[in-house]
Amino acid sequence: MTTTKIALITGANKGIGKEIARQLGQLGMTVLVAARDAERGRAASAELTGDGIDARPVLLDVTDPDSVATAAKQVEQEHGRLDVLVNNAGIIDAGDQDGRAVADTFERTYATNVIGVMTVTRAMLPLLRKGAQARVVNLSSELGSVSLQSDPDGEFSGIRLYAYNSSKAALNMLTVMLAKELQPDGIAVNAVSPGYCATDMNDHEGYRTPAQGAADAVRVATADGPTGGFYGESGTLPW
Ligand SMILES: NC(=O)c1ccc[n+]([C@@H]2O[C@H](COP(=O)([O-])OP(=O)(O)OC[C@H]3O[C@@H](n4cnc5c(N)ncnc54)[C@H](OP(=O)(O)O)[C@@H]3O)[C@@H](O)[C@H]2O)c1
Repeated sequence: MTTTKIALITGANKGIGKEIARQLGQLGMTVLVAARDAERGRAASAELTGDGIDARPVLLDVTDPDSVATAAKQVEQEHGRLDVLVNNAGIIDAGDQDGRAVADTFERTYATNVIGVMTVTRAMLPLLRKGAQARVVNLSSELGSVSLQSDPDGEFSGIRLYAYNSSKAALNMLTVMLAKELQPDGIAVNAVSPGYCATDMNDHEGYRTPAQGAADAVRVATADGPTGGFYGESGTLPW
C-alpha cells in the first residue's frame, strides 16, 4: 500500500475548498477534488494538476446519498482508504436574509451544511478506519458559535442568518459527538472557522483570502493533536 496520504475535500471546485486541496496537495498528499458538477470539478482538478499537485476529480453532491455512495465506492476502488476528509461544501441560501428565513431556506441549508456532512462522513467512515490516524475537518463558522453570537459586542453578533448560523451550530455539536464516537478508532474530528474570506459565498466581501482560511483548516487536518475542538486563525474558538 502506498504511503502517500489521500485527502478528499467536498466543494473543492472553488473558494476555500480549492485552496485546501491545493495546500494539502503541496504537502504531498493525493487530493480528491470532490465537486457536485463534473465539469467544475474537472476544471479545478486540472488547474491543481497544472500546479504540480496530484489531484483527481470526484463527482459528489453532499445532498444526494447515491452520489455520496458512488464517490465512496470510487475512493475504495482507486485508493482503498482515506486519511483526511474535509467537509467543506456549504451554502448560504438566497432566502437567508436579515432574519427572514422560512422553511424551505432552512431545509436547503440544513440539507447541505448539516445532513450532507453526516451523509459524507458516515459513507467515508470505513475508508477513514483504514487510513493512517485519519482526520476529519468540518468547515464551521464563528457565526455558528452560540457564545460569540450571545456577545452583543461580538464582531458578527448582528448577522442574522437564521438558517446558516444555526446550521453551523448544529455542525459544531455533530463535531463533538463524532469526535467522541471515533476517538477509539484514532480518528480526530475537529471544526474550523476559516474567518471572513473573500469568496462567492459573500460576493467577495471577506477581508481574508481563501488561502488564508484554507491554511487554518490544513493546520488542523495535519496536526498530530487534539480531537473534538473548534479552531480559528488565533487558536481555540468558543462553542
Ligand atoms: N467565506 C467565508 O467567509 C466563510 C466563513 C466561515 C465559514 N465558511 C465555510 O467555508 C466553506 C467554504 O465556503 P466558501 O466561502 O469557499 O464558499 P463558496 O466559494 O461558495 O464554495 C462553496 C463550495 O461548496 C460547494 N457546494 C455547495 N453545495 C454543495 C453540494 N450540495 N454538494 C457538493 N458541493 C456543494 C460549491 O459548489 P458549486 O460551485 O457547485 O456551487 C462550492 O464548491 C463553507 O462550509 C462555508 O460555510 C466560509
